[in-house]
Amino acid sequence: MLIRPTYAKVNLGAIKLNVANIKKHLPNGAMICAVVKADGYGHGSTMVSKAVKEAGAEWLGVAMPEEAAVLREEGVAGPILVLGPANLAQWRKAAGLDLSMAVVSYACVQNALTVSRECGVKMRLHIKADTGMNRVGVKTLEEAGRILDTIAQEDCLELEGLMTHFACADEADKTYTHLQNERFGTFIRLVREKGFAPIIHAANSGAALDCPQFAYDMVRVGIAIYGCYPSDEVSRDVLLEPAMSLHTQVSFIKELKEGERLSYGGLYTCDKTMRIATLPIGYADGYNRLLTGKGEVLVGGRRARVVGRVCMDQILIDVTDIDDVCLNTHVVCFGEQNGNRIPVEEYAEKCGTINYETLCAISPRVQRLYVED
Ligand SMILES: Cc1ncc(COP(=O)(O)O)c(C=O)c1O
Repeated sequence: MLIRPTYAKVNLGAIKLNVANIKKHLPNGAMICAVVKADGYGHGSTMVSKAVKEAGAEWLGVAMPEEAAVLREEGVAGPILVLGPANLAQWRKAAGLDLSMAVVSYACVQNALTVSRECGVKMRLHIKADTGMNRVGVKTLEEAGRILDTIAQEDCLELEGLMTHFACADEADKTYTHLQNERFGTFIRLVREKGFAPIIHAANSGAALDCPQFAYDMVRVGIAIYGCYPSDEVSRDVLLEPAMSLHTQVSFIKELKEGERLSYGGLYTCDKTMRIATLPIGYADGYNRLLTGKGEVLVGGRRARVVGRVCMDQILIDVTDIDDVCLNTHVVCFGEQNGNRIPVEEYAEKCGTINYETLCAISPRVQRLYVED
């Protein structure tokens, strides 16, 4: 039950629609690994996982075994791939949770061997080839070969997947993505020459939307399932519906005379008699302090400006020109109200960041309200 007037509404219907629309866009048979790390990009990983599976996503992707543990505790079954690197303690955790693990170096295979012997389980591995992201991954065919030979010798290890990650798939110019894909081809050939037939996957949202020809056996889509495009440069051919909107209510309203100063530091001075409403949302909720003097919210479908400093738990907005604003009036910080919209991208841009970070930053203090619109 919602008590606090500040909440993030998550439309599971939109998430299901996005998965279905992405699936239609991909070549027949390509699987979807829905990336639900960072608590489902702030949407709530358990609820998102259940929704995407209902909509036909075959796999889930997380950054670390701890995130998968939450899902398993909540009864989420089926394949979960840990995308990031893990230390030995994390490999041990993974062994007890029936997870698939990324192998980013030969050291990972040693960890896999150690834990599979300790726990008596077969470890399913996805080699992560570094084709140009230069973050983590196996850079040379020689190292990949050594990993493959070890897997071939050990019954307790299984090569389940071969993957790479595109660094620039969200850019209009796909030259670098094509180069990465060519390099990936050399890893695919090596794996096949050695007699393996793993699940091949490379595409994130940008590539899944713009280069479906690089879908291989599976795509790993994050931001797109939440209804956002990875950047302005990615095509809008696939219809996506934003799943999250951020809501609050007026908690206080007053009239202030010309010359009165607002919030910490008195940064904003009223230049006339003004009606100022207080909202119970602040930077501890993920409402970024950089929106001081820049943010806008929707009240009665009209835009109202954030005036004065964003505080930890509260912000002030100018509603001088908006009629009928009173205690408990509903306010939308991003999302839609009465046919008008503040996209999360506009909010993010004002903070000098991207939709990904804004969504992840909505803090656990903000309750998620799940709907199926
Ligand atoms: C390895 C890997 N694959 C896929 C994704 C999903 O990316 P996106 O949210 O752009 O679809 C991520 C996210 O950072 C990732 O790290």
